[in-house]
Amino acid sequence: MEDQRKEFMGIALKLAKEAKDISFPNPMVGAVLVKNNEIIGKGNTKEPGNNHAEISAINDAKRNFPSNSEEKIKGSSLYVTLEPCSKQGRTPACTEEIIKNSIKEVIIGSSDPSQDGLKVLSNAGIKTQIGVLKDQTDDHHKGFLSRVERKRPYVRCKIACSLDGGVAFLNGESKWITSEKSRIDSHDLRKKSDAIITGIGTVIADDPKMTVRSKEVKKQPIVCVLDTKLKSKGTEKIYQRDSESFIFTKTNHKTINNKNIKIVEIDSKEGDINLRDTLEYLAKEGISELMLESGPSLVSSFIEENLIDEFIFYIAPKLMGKNKYKFLDLTPEIKELELKVIETQYIGNDLKLVAINQRS
Ligand SMILES: NC(=O)c1ccc[n+]([C@@H]2O[C@H](COP(=O)([O-])OP(=O)(O)OC[C@H]3O[C@@H](n4cnc5c(N)ncnc54)[C@H](OP(=O)(O)O)[C@@H]3O)[C@@H](O)[C@H]2O)c1
Repeated sequence: MEDQRKEFMGIALKLAKEAKDISFPNPMVGAVLVKNNEIIGKGNTKEPGNNHAEISAINDAKRNFPSNSEEKIKGSSLYVTLEPCSKQGRTPACTEEIIKNSIKEVIIGSSDPSQDGLKVLSNAGIKTQIGVLKDQTDDHHKGFLSRVERKRPYVRCKIACSLDGGVAFLNGESKWITSEKSRIDSHDLRKKSDAIITGIGTVIADDPKMTVRSKEVKKQPIVCVLDTKLKSKGTEKIYQRDSESFIFTKTNHKTINNKNIKIVEIDSKEGDINLRDTLEYLAKEGISELMLESGPSLVSSFIEENLIDEFIFYIAPKLMGKNKYKFLDLTPEIKELELKVIETQYIGNDLKLVAINQRS
C-alpha cells in the first residue's frame, strides 16, 4: 500500500518537473488521479491564470472518460506534490474543485505554509495524508518553499576555479578556467534557475551573455545586476535578451535606453547594495530559484550574509599563481559556514563538487 502510494507520488513528481518554464511564477506542481489502482487522469501546473495541477488532472480524467467521468472521478484518490491551494488567486481555490468532484482522498507530498488546503479538505470530510515522498517533493519545491517561508529565493552559487582558488587573472587574460564540458554543464544550472544574479564587476570585465546555450529553452532566465553607481549602459550583452533584466542600484540617476531593463533602487549597506532587500524584492517578483554567478566581491558579500544555500564548484586542475583573483577573501564572520558535499563528478578533466550549506 505504502509502496504503491510512493509510486503514484513519483509519477506526480515527474509531471511536476515537466512544469518548469511553464508555471512561473507559480510552483511547479504535478498531480495524478487514481481509481481502483488505475490512473484515470494526470496533469501539472499550466501558465499563470490557467489550471493548477489538480484541475489539469481532473480535466484529463473528464477527457479520458467522456461518457462516465462524474462516476469515475467520484471516490477517486488524488496524488499531488504540494498541498492544494485553498485561497482564490488568479484561479479559484483547488480545494473547491476537489470537494465538488467528490474525490475521496487527497495524498500530498509537501505542505504549503501559505495555504489551508489540508484543513479545508479535512473539514469537508475528505481523507488526507501528507508527507508521501516528502524528501523528494520538498527538494523539488525548495525554491517555492524558500520564497514562502524565508521571503527569499533558494540561492545556488556557481564558482569555476583553479586548484589554488583562482577565478580570474588580475590582468584580465584567459577568460575560461574550466573546460568547455564544464561550461556546458553550468548552462544546465542556469536552465534550472528563474534568474541569475551578478555584479557590475563581472559585466564590465567579461561582458558575458549569461544565457542558456546548452539546450533549447522556452525562456532565458531573468538577469539581475548589482550596480550601485549605475555604470551599466544598457548595451552590454547580458541585457540583450527578450526576458526582463533588473539593475539594482543606489540612485537611479540616469535613463537607460533599453525597454527590457527595470531599474530598482535598493538601500545600500555600507556602500554596497543591501542583499537581503534585493532578495526580498526578487521573491516578490516570483523568483524561486536564483543562481549567483559573479566575481569574488559579490560571492563574499553573499557568504558574509549567509545567503547561499548551495555551492557548485567546477575545479580545474590548474595553478594560477599569484596573479589571480581568489574566489573570496575570507573574513572571520564566515567561520560558521558548514557545508555538506552531496555530489562529486568528473567532467572531462575538471572536478564538479556540489555542497549544501547546512546553516542557511
Ligand atoms: N570563475 C568564476 O566562476 C567567475 C564568475 C564570474 C566572474 N568572474 C571573474 O570575476 C572578476 C570580477 O570580479 P568582481 O569581484 O569585480 O565582480 P563582481 O563580484 O561580479 O561585482 C562586484 C561589484 O558589484 C557591485 N556591488 C553592488 N552591491 C554589492 C554587494 N552587496 N557586494 C559586493 N558587490 C556589490 C560593486 O560595484 P559598484 O560599487 O560599482 O556597484 C562591486 O564592485 C572578473 O575577472 C570575472 O572574470 C569569475
